[in-house]
Amino acid sequence: MALPNQHGGNVLDMALKLGVDETSIVDFSANINPLGMPASLKRALAAHWSLAERYPDPLYRRLHDRLAAHHQCPASWILAGNGATELIYDLAFLLRGKTVLLPTPGFAEYRLALKGMDCRVEDFPLTESDDFSPDHRLPAALRPGIDALFLCTPNNPTGQLIATDLLLAIARRCRELAITLVVDEAFMDFIPDGVSVINRLGDFPNLFVLRSLTKFYAIPGLRLGYMLGSDTQAMARLRERRPPWTINAFAALAGEVVLDDLEYQRDAMRWLQEQQTYLYGGLSALPALKVWRPAANYIFFRCQRRALDLQAALLQKGLLIRSCANYPGLSGDYYRVAIKGGADNRRLLEALGEVLNYG
Ligand SMILES: Cc1ncc(COP(=O)(O)O)c(C=O)c1O
Repeated sequence: MALPNQHGGNVLDMALKLGVDETSIVDFSANINPLGMPASLKRALAAHWSLAERYPDPLYRRLHDRLAAHHQCPASWILAGNGATELIYDLAFLLRGKTVLLPTPGFAEYRLALKGMDCRVEDFPLTESDDFSPDHRLPAALRPGIDALFLCTPNNPTGQLIATDLLLAIARRCRELAITLVVDEAFMDFIPDGVSVINRLGDFPNLFVLRSLTKFYAIPGLRLGYMLGSDTQAMARLRERRPPWTINAFAALAGEVVLDDLEYQRDAMRWLQEQQTYLYGGLSALPALKVWRPAANYIFFRCQRRALDLQAALLQKGLLIRSCANYPGLSGDYYRVAIKGGADNRRLLEALGEVLNYG
């Protein structure tokens, strides 16, 4: 059976198509911190192998307490999941049969989860002429009959942050109209001084915030995310319908350990500041590309050479970038690349220079 390939990071798929070993491909298509998982977590995992021999606490009390302390909110406002993805499906369950507005382009999993719960999805188009940034037209588009709105800040794949004033205006409008507002902050940890709406949850019982630990802490294979909401009844309903133990013991341990690793967090921000400037500068210097300024650890661009399949051309050089052809609202001219370590980023710029016949 062919699996739908909705995401980046599917290196095996590409390697099988090319008939090469997957380790020979440098993956720019998944936005994962290249520092790898924190050393503190590796040590904790090695010291706690025996966790695999017991069932995890089905309530994950230690994990929820740690996350609650981190965000200075009650533990009843938090629900951890097997990656933020599991929580997107939980939210879709809460919204089953409802009408949901999705800014488009956006993360594919919202649409898939909502459609699976018989929701009616309406698109709110984000366009290149507006730099793919929502503006005052978004709160104005909210009306009775819309039950929920999903926002992602910074947005994936476009990388644009939603201005805090606008986000709060949207949250107020949603509260007025009893619209459920989901704000996905999966990449917020990458933003220095990133302003989260988490500290406004008390004002907005209609607001749910999604967080992922898989990207910043480089644990997509371990899987851990969480959701916050001050509507404790809704949170309790989601908690109760959960199959038990969907978070494995090592992922739960990760959540208890990584938030304390300040050194890793500092190193990651140092890497990102340096390499974001380097890669954004290098890509912007290529006249064939129109590049959007990144907020987080990935860069979105359009290739202005119409006939050129950049993903295929770079794959020949062992580099996998994310084609955005399968995003509703985008075409095959748009691409997204993860910001990686210096040597890989240099290799990407050199390969692009060759493919585009510069220098
Ligand atoms: C915007 C966004 N939200 C949520 C997720 C899900 O993250 P995870 O399930 O790995 O925590 C992703 C993964 O790519 C994402 O890009």
